[in-house]
Amino acid sequence: MLGRLVPVTVAWAETREDRPDTELFPIERVALGRAVPKRRREFTAGRACARRALERLGAPVVAIPSGERGEPRWPDGVVGSITHCEGYRAGAVAWSTALASLGIDAEPDAPLPEGVLEVVAHGRELDLVAGGDGRVDVGRLLFSAKEAIYKAWSPLATGRLSFEDAEVALDLADGTFRARLLVPGPVVGGVRLDELHGRWAVEDGVIGTAVTIHAHGRAGGSGIT
Ligand SMILES: CC(C)(COP(=O)(O)OP(=O)(O)OC[C@H]1O[C@@H](n2cnc3c(N)ncnc32)[C@H](O)[C@@H]1OP(=O)(O)O)[C@@H](O)C(=O)NCCC(=O)NCCS
Repeated sequence: MLGRLVPVTVAWAETREDRPDTELFPIERVALGRAVPKRRREFTAGRACARRALERLGAPVVAIPSGERGEPRWPDGVVGSITHCEGYRAGAVAWSTALASLGIDAEPDAPLPEGVLEVVAHGRELDLVAGGDGRVDVGRLLFSAKEAIYKAWSPLATGRLSFEDAEVALDLADGTFRARLLVPGPVVGGVRLDELHGRWAVEDGVIGTAVTIHAHGRAGGSGIT
């Protein structure tokens, strides 16, 4: 699925099965601590995908510790993102000379738990969700797009980005979305970003979203180049 969502400058790996023989680096094992088995499985499989992606990029295949905000810490010169949900794990990386940042997210194609949509959707987004779509749960898609936006935005900024800080317009026909930042965006290559672009797809019950930001400050996403 990720191949439909990211430009060719991105190396990626995804899986729908966890392999019990996957090893973690000691620093990653420490970060994981005494996590419950479900968390251990998703973390380990996410790291395995991320390392496969690093290998495909031609970057060093190293430990990927977690930073203070939970973000994966990539080797020098690499940007990337990890996601996992029930039945799907993925990692994606690119050279920082090509992309300033990227964010990927996966969610089950099913309604959000009660009360979550009210937190996620605001303003015109509520009309989008109310309009619905026969092929995908639009509320969950909106949530996933916002998670991918957050993951792409986070390494370039300080502080949090709340759900109401980005207004997302989903194009349900062509698998793209745009997010207008309602707070000052990060400056990339001398350009202040006020909009981020992404792509989405749904495959075998899983929604995938990806947001890429070009190294010279252009919001990526709508054209796969
Ligand atoms: C951090 C967050 C985005 C993770 O998304 P999620 O859908 O819950 O979970 P996913 O499985 O898709 O992604 C988890 C991975 O995200 C990555 N991640 C965590 N924090 C991150 C951050 N600050 N920046 C980038 N990536 C981050 C990690 O790799 C994590 O996996 P790992 O702990 O196994 O390494 C989410 O929990 C969160 O805090 N959201 C609130 C902020 C937000 O979304 N605002 C909306 C802005 S419009």
